[in-house]
Amino acid sequence: MTDLDPTRLLVPLDLGAVKASNRVFMAPLTRMRAAQPGALASDLSVEYYRQRASAGLLISEGTQISAEGQGYADTPGISTPEQVRAWRRVTDAVHAEGGLIAAQLWHTGRVNHESLHDGELPVSASALPVRVRTSLKDADGAVIRANAPTPRALETEEIPRLVEDYRRATAAAREAGFDLVEVHAAHGYLLHQFLAATCNVRTDAYGGSLENRARLVLEVVDACISEWGSDRVAIRLSPQGSFNGLADDDGPEETLHVISRLAERDLAYLHISEPDWAGGPALPEEYRRRLRVAYPGTLVAAGSYDAQKAVRLIEAGLIDAAAFGRSFIANPDLPVRLATRAPLNEPVPATFYGGGAEGYIDYPVL
Ligand SMILES: Cc1cc2nc3c(=O)[nH]c(=O)nc-3n(C[C@H](O)[C@H](O)[C@H](O)COP(=O)(O)O)c2cc1C
Repeated sequence: MTDLDPTRLLVPLDLGAVKASNRVFMAPLTRMRAAQPGALASDLSVEYYRQRASAGLLISEGTQISAEGQGYADTPGISTPEQVRAWRRVTDAVHAEGGLIAAQLWHTGRVNHESLHDGELPVSASALPVRVRTSLKDADGAVIRANAPTPRALETEEIPRLVEDYRRATAAAREAGFDLVEVHAAHGYLLHQFLAATCNVRTDAYGGSLENRARLVLEVVDACISEWGSDRVAIRLSPQGSFNGLADDDGPEETLHVISRLAERDLAYLHISEPDWAGGPALPEEYRRRLRVAYPGTLVAAGSYDAQKAVRLIEAGLIDAAAFGRSFIANPDLPVRLATRAPLNEPVPATFYGGGAEGYIDYPVL
């Protein structure tokens, strides 16, 4: 295979209202290290994001839009004044280094546990039994896995409140100094639970036909746009994959239809999480080509990327930037390493979730 020039990753890219200095983005990465009480971005996370500010764009870890949206232990939120103040320290640190940061807006829906909500059941599109686990912590702070209960279905009357939670989280993200918001509609979490026929058997305007199943995600995106403008709003989807107990039966026609509806909105970018990093098949080239036609705007992709794959797909015009997850955990200075073909530190999965500074802010730079 031809060797492609990795410095092509350093070409700047327009992202709606802002301009990324390169095409090596940091993917959203849950680390379960928020400070308590209050689910706050911690002092350690200020340093963690600051160290990685050379990314073209940092995308924050999944950040709950409301207490209801939290589904894992010690993930941060973006709804209270304290949470806004805590994130402000992160965004100030990133901006002081010349970086950009998006807030990933998250509601986990049924990937959840009643112990996080004083015994109340998690919410989802439908009250169907679910085979999925979430991560909690024991009394010593060690991460433990727990089965999610059968959720309760959101009432139709509750949906406007849910949409409003996303709008308010967008306002909070702006106030906290983020540059963009990325709506998390991927990986089997709440918005994906509405999109997928396998776990949405509603009979109201939010279930049934594809048009109905897509209604919530489009209403959420429109609410975020109404708050901050389409050039500040992005979205993440994981079409053609199976994540968190959600086996998506929708074929390419269906997912591309939803994507073309999003394309009409002129968002900052569309972020595709590809299935192969989580045991799924590689995204077929044919699907990539159809995706590009359905979404002519800025397209970001993630999932088992290295510099060569990113450059190849950028040169082919199939994506505009690549987001890196595990390699950004282990390499705070990933863009320069990729561009100069420097060796990479190996990520240590044992310290991905929970814990403190180890495996979080102690990976060496070149
Ligand atoms: C520790 C860890 C935490 C993650 N947390 C999130 C998250 O909060 N939101 C999200 O959309 N994806 C999350 N992902 C998926 C990543 O954003 C990314 O798509 C995935 O790691 C594949 O990219 P990679 O092969 O470069 O690691 C997570 C992945 C890992 C490994």
